[in-house]
Amino acid sequence: MTEHIIVSRTDAYPGVMTIRFNRPDKKNAITAAMYQAMTAALKEANGDPEVKAVVFLGTDGCFSAGNDMGDFLSYALSGSREPPAAAVFIKALALAEKPLVSGVDGLAIGIGTTLNLHCDLTVASGRSLFRTPFVDLGLVPEAASSLIAPKIMGHQRAFALLAMGDGFTAEAAMQAGLIWKVVGPSEVEMEALALAAEIAKKPPQALRIARDLVRGPRDEVIARMDEELAHFAERLKSDEARAAFEAFMQR
Ligand code: COA
Repeated sequence: MTEHIIVSRTDAYPGVMTIRFNRPDKKNAITAAMYQAMTAALKEANGDPEVKAVVFLGTDGCFSAGNDMGDFLSYALSGSREPPAAAVFIKALALAEKPLVSGVDGLAIGIGTTLNLHCDLTVASGRSLFRTPFVDLGLVPEAASSLIAPKIMGHQRAFALLAMGDGFTAEAAMQAGLIWKVVGPSEVEMEALALAAEIAKKPPQALRIARDLVRGPRDEVIARMDEELAHFAERLKSDEARAAFEAFMQR
């Protein structure tokens, strides 16, 4: 579908599907085609009993710079009322039936950060930075981050992350409970894949129930996504957002 997302499996890590951002020249910024490819991969994982865990990875020194700014601008100018591909993807993420692991090395911006709130285990290198500049772009938090982040980090840290746009180092993200472990840059992938392989060896039915219990009700998450998306779609077309996208595109 797009060469910018690589979906793979390897015998070295049985039961593990990997979804890799592969657009390093654009800091792995995510286009509609990339969201669609990831949604398809998550659906494939749901339906395949051979897949026991899914791992998200980026490229050397960059997880993802978030939504593609050009796509944001086109959507803002298009007047489209169709839900963007990102909206479909985040719901697939919330409804993913297999455990999700992420390995972050470097920049994790916007959805590059909020995606991890849906992962069961995240490992990150010490040079990683988690940041969501939603408000500075005239936007609002997405992916149910406004629900999940305060629960795991408390109100003030969530406000600093989601409303102030403050960057969280890997160490700060670990202290806040946003991620599981900090490792060296060269260890991120191996560690994430090893965790997923460990998950893959667990009794799947018990693990599934345990995960559902720990994650809590998904309808609450989906309802919050819908609430956020209604604001997000309005904000995308606002003068504040359009000015921010144009400023980025014209740098
Ligand atoms: N959408 C589209 N392109 C992006 C992008 C994004 N979100 N983030 C980076 N890129 C592109 C840049 O336009 C540049 O492309 P070019 O080489 O054709 O000019 C390339 O990736 C490298 O980015 P650059 O800005 O030169 O690298 P940097 O190391 O100086 O800064 C970032 C990296 C991520 C800090 C900076 O690019 C940035 O702030 N990006 C926007 C992040 C963002 O706000 N995302 C949306 C969150 S909701």
